[in-house]
Amino acid sequence: MADKFLLPKKAERIIVLQRIELASLLIKKLRKFFGRYIFSNFITKFFLNSDEIAAKYYRTMSDEFLTIKKYLNENDNLFLSIGSGIGGLEVIINKHLKNRSFFFIERNYISKKVKYGWGGMVNDEAYNNFELQKLFLEMNEMNEKKIYLIDYDKDEFPDTKFDVITSLFSLDYHYDFNLYAEYLKKVCKPKTKIIFDTIRADYFKKVFKNVEVIGSDIDTIHKSKRIVCSDFIN
Ligand SMILES: C[S@@+](CC[C@H](N)C(=O)[O-])C[C@H]1O[C@@H](n2cnc3c(N)ncnc32)[C@H](O)[C@@H]1O
Repeated sequence: MADKFLLPKKAERIIVLQRIELASLLIKKLRKFFGRYIFSNFITKFFLNSDEIAAKYYRTMSDEFLTIKKYLNENDNLFLSIGSGIGGLEVIINKHLKNRSFFFIERNYISKKVKYGWGGMVNDEAYNNFELQKLFLEMNEMNEKKIYLIDYDKDEFPDTKFDVITSLFSLDYHYDFNLYAEYLKKVCKPKTKIIFDTIRADYFKKVFKNVEVIGSDIDTIHKSKRIVCSDFIN
C-alpha cells in the first residue's frame, strides 16, 4: 500500500464529515459562511479534492494507530470498532497485524445537518455509508471474508468475545457510553481492551478495574482524553 488510501468515488465526502479537520481551510471557511446544511449537502459533494483527502486521511489514521499500537499484540484476533467511520484505522491495523477479523458497528446514513456535538442518549447523528465502507476496506487490502459490517439501527449485534474494541471520537464523545454498556459487558473478557475518547476519564475508574489515559486532545472544544480500559467492575 502506498502512503495514501485508495478511495472509492464519493468517499471523500463522508470522510470529511467524519473528520472535519481533514477539510482545507477554505472548505472550513465555506462551512462557517454557508452553514452546516449547505456544507453537508452541497459543498462536501462538489468541492473536495479526493487525492488530497486520501493522503491526509492516511496520515491522520497512521498517527492515530501510533497512539494505540503498544496496546495491541499478536494474540489479538477479534477487533470491534464502534463508530469506525469508513474504517481507515482498521486498514492500518490490518497492515500491521495480518489476517484478523474486523467487526464494525456503524450507521448507514448521513444526517442532513451534521452538528458534531454531544448527543448524549439521543444520538441521531450519523455520517456513514456501508456500500462505500465495504469498497474502501477491500480496496485497501482487507480480506472480505474477515469484514463484518453491523448496522446499529437494524442488525443484531455480534455475540462473540472481542480482544480489542476501539471507538475513536464516537462512543462517549458524541453519545453516552451507557448506550453500549450492557452490550460491552457481554462481549468483553477481563483482558479485552476498550479504547475510546471521553471528556470524563475519571468517571470510568468507577466502571473498570483498569483505566489508563494514553493521550489528550486539548486543541478541540471537547478537550477529550483517550483511554484504554479493561475489566468491568460490575
Ligand atoms: C466523528 S465520527 C468518527 C469516525 C472515526 N472513528 C474516526 O475517528 O475517524 C463518529 C462516527 O460515529 C458514527 N455513529 C453515530 N452514532 C453511532 C452509534 N450509535 N453506533 C455506532 N456508530 C455511531 C457516525 O456515523 C460516525 O461515523
